[in-house]
Amino acid sequence: MQKKIIAGNWKMNTTLESAILLASEIDSRLTDSHREVDNVTVILFPPFPFIPIVADVINADRISVGSQNIANQPKGAFTGEVSAEMIASIGVKYTIIGHSERRAFYGETNKILSQKIDLALENNLDVVFCCGEKLEERESGQYFEVIRNQLIETIFKLSSEKMQHIVIAYEPIWAIGTGKTATPEQAQEIHAFIRNLLKKNFGETIADTVSILYGGSCKPANAKELFSQSDIDGGLIGGASLKAEDFVQIIESY
Ligand code: PGA
Repeated sequence: MQKKIIAGNWKMNTTLESAILLASEIDSRLTDSHREVDNVTVILFPPFPFIPIVADVINADRISVGSQNIANQPKGAFTGEVSAEMIASIGVKYTIIGHSERRAFYGETNKILSQKIDLALENNLDVVFCCGEKLEERESGQYFEVIRNQLIETIFKLSSEKMQHIVIAYEPIWAIGTGKTATPEQAQEIHAFIRNLLKKNFGETIADTVSILYGGSCKPANAKELFSQSDIDGGLIGGASLKAEDFVQIIESY
């Protein structure tokens, strides 16, 4: 059975003060929630400098924290980079790798992403690995091929044992931050496709345990319908994770 996961990707937003406020409000709203949300793993991905302070203000039994990125080198003369080992050393358990903004704005290729994945796993970080197609790739009907390649050149090179530490996030680029959500049917179609690839490459057990999250303009108004699809195991939430009320409502949609 796949874990249900709702993750908040704060991207390059918040300040020290607003990060503390946001994390505390999410924590207290979840504590007060009348809904049964214990079956959902909640992960916050704040900007690097706020990770320890966010970890301090939340209840670790209810919420985990992760990093939005890690370096593709283990250590040394790489000014400005943050290594997997550093992240692990502050008690963090998750990292996002391969977000489309990293691929598009920072030139992260599948080769670079594979290096990051290996370093994350060596340092016992679970990876939320993002994939997804551009608008023109969807419109030209190439999207299955694009997603398959993104997976084959990265996480599908891992052993089955390592795959147990991977969460996949399907994020169609045309839906990220645009207000345009994939319809539940469009999302389900890709999630089922990914699930089948998992089955073909790793077998039934891995296909049944790897969570596949949807990301792209997910909000309280559409979360329930998206999460009710059989192969959608949760969401990676950007904009709506910056409002405690919306984020907790999304968690409560389960
Ligand atoms: P969005 O971002 O929810 O603001 O569309 C999702 C993401 O990029 O992870």
